[in-house]
Amino acid sequence: MRIDVLTLFPEVIAPALTLGVLGRALDNGLLTVCLENPRDFTKDRHKTVDDAPYGGGAGMVMKCEPLYTAVESLIGRNSLEHIVLLSPRGRRLDQQMVMEMASWTDMVLICARYEGVDERLSQDLVTDEVSIGDYVLSGGETAALVVIEAISRMLPGVVGRWESVDTDSFFHGTLGPPQYTRPPCFRGVCVPEVLLSGDHAAIDRFRRKEALRVTRLRRPDLLNALTEEDRQLLAEIGDETQLPEKENER
Ligand code: ADE
Repeated sequence: MRIDVLTLFPEVIAPALTLGVLGRALDNGLLTVCLENPRDFTKDRHKTVDDAPYGGGAGMVMKCEPLYTAVESLIGRNSLEHIVLLSPRGRRLDQQMVMEMASWTDMVLICARYEGVDERLSQDLVTDEVSIGDYVLSGGETAALVVIEAISRMLPGVVGRWESVDTDSFFHGTLGPPQYTRPPCFRGVCVPEVLLSGDHAAIDRFRRKEALRVTRLRRPDLLNALTEEDRQLLAEIGDETQLPEKENER
């Protein structure tokens, strides 16, 4: 997969592309990320990428021309079928969208700064507008990194063990189960015995049950596609209205 990112601050994104799972995916050619700066596509001496909003108001708006020209420069390298603008006005990203995006061959991510981009870009050039959550960032760069990293985990061969993805929160429509590592007891709190049993069927069942438990507690809105087995596991957990204080406070 190829992702072209249009950003005024490539130096925000570049270092994260060299590290960890994402860095390895790029090294192994499973994913290609190219950074382009719209400033390099300006025609004036000052390399102007923004201007005051028509109608007045605070802040500046990103101009059409540099972004259009930057996108056009990608013709022949990117199909330009998916031109995604990162914006708090976009559709809120979730795992389902991530999986759909991971099936694309390529995409362009546009990172806005200032008060956003000229609306004509959103209407004529952009195919999808994506928000990473209901809060406002100073620019789309960190949002682009979120999108790239989430997509990269879905590409075959990127995550060493598929079980890691398989147990990720949201992959099965729930939050992930709790995880433990050595030592077996720490400051008087011991790891649930079933995890030390070597009984893989029992461990899978325990994990699904705990995933359902924590999801019902923290994100009941996610529990809308339960299997018969899930229902049975939830019934076994029972009604936990008398929760430990810490969970009740969330
Ligand atoms: N740019 C500014 N805020 C954003 C958000 N919440 N999601 C995506 N891009 C953004």
